[in-house]
Amino acid sequence: MFKTFFIACVVVAAGLCPAVAMSGGLGTILDRSRFPAELIIIRGDLDRFMTESSLSRLERQGLEGRIQSALSGLLWLSQEYETLTKHAVDETFISDAQSLWRDRKLDDLRQLVTISADLYALNLEIFKASRASKQDMERVSEIDTTLCQGCHVLSPGSPSTLPAYRLKEFASTMSSHEFLARLLSGIRGSGETTLANPLTLGDVRGFMRLYRSSLE
Ligand code: HEC
Repeated sequence: MFKTFFIACVVVAAGLCPAVAMSGGLGTILDRSRFPAELIIIRGDLDRFMTESSLSRLERQGLEGRIQSALSGLLWLSQEYETLTKHAVDETFISDAQSLWRDRKLDDLRQLVTISADLYALNLEIFKASRASKQDMERVSEIDTTLCQGCHVLSPGSPSTLPAYRLKEFASTMSSHEFLARLLSGIRGSGETTLANPLTLGDVRGFMRLYRSSLE
């Protein structure tokens, strides 16, 4: 249920913005990043779930649903990653992670996910904020004002299971790797693009620079 709602939201997002919906997309760069990105997001969601005291009851429920659904989809993503990158993945950690989650052994789960996220690392290099061109910045600033800011207005503590947080504020609470992972996995396209993330490489670099104050 969470997954459907999540995708539905972001489909609306891209549908509202022809500039985003019609741009080139990231193709296999994105497909290769999905598994490493998901591991980083699970770790980040777990951190928030375990430590952030300002969350509302509904936000906690939403995070719980996201972690649950991310762990159930991890095997599929690991297989996609293996096929595309030829890096072998030791899949036993996935069922271990699912059992730890079922038993709510959160510290152990966090440790396991951290080790795996280091092992199957997300490559930040090509997406670095410092690589964004002037044109990238002009384009994403406009998309941000006309589209993203329309929804991303909430702060932690909001009575919603899947709140769209203020992106600059949200980005400042995490590492550049984690924000990149969320940009890559959190945005989906329309039905015509089979829900692929419609952002281009330049868009991702631009958003990394726009929302994060460092050039990492
Ligand atoms: C129609 C409303 C809407 C628009 C427009 C929109 N978003 Fe979102 N976005 C959401 C919602 C709702 C979520 C939360 C989904 C979730 O937590 O699973 C979200 C999630 C995200 C995430 C992932 C956050 C996370 O917790 O992992 C990122 C990153 C993001 N949006 C960036 C953008 C950017 C960049 C734009 C502009 C190109 C944009 N969004 C436009 C509603 C929107």
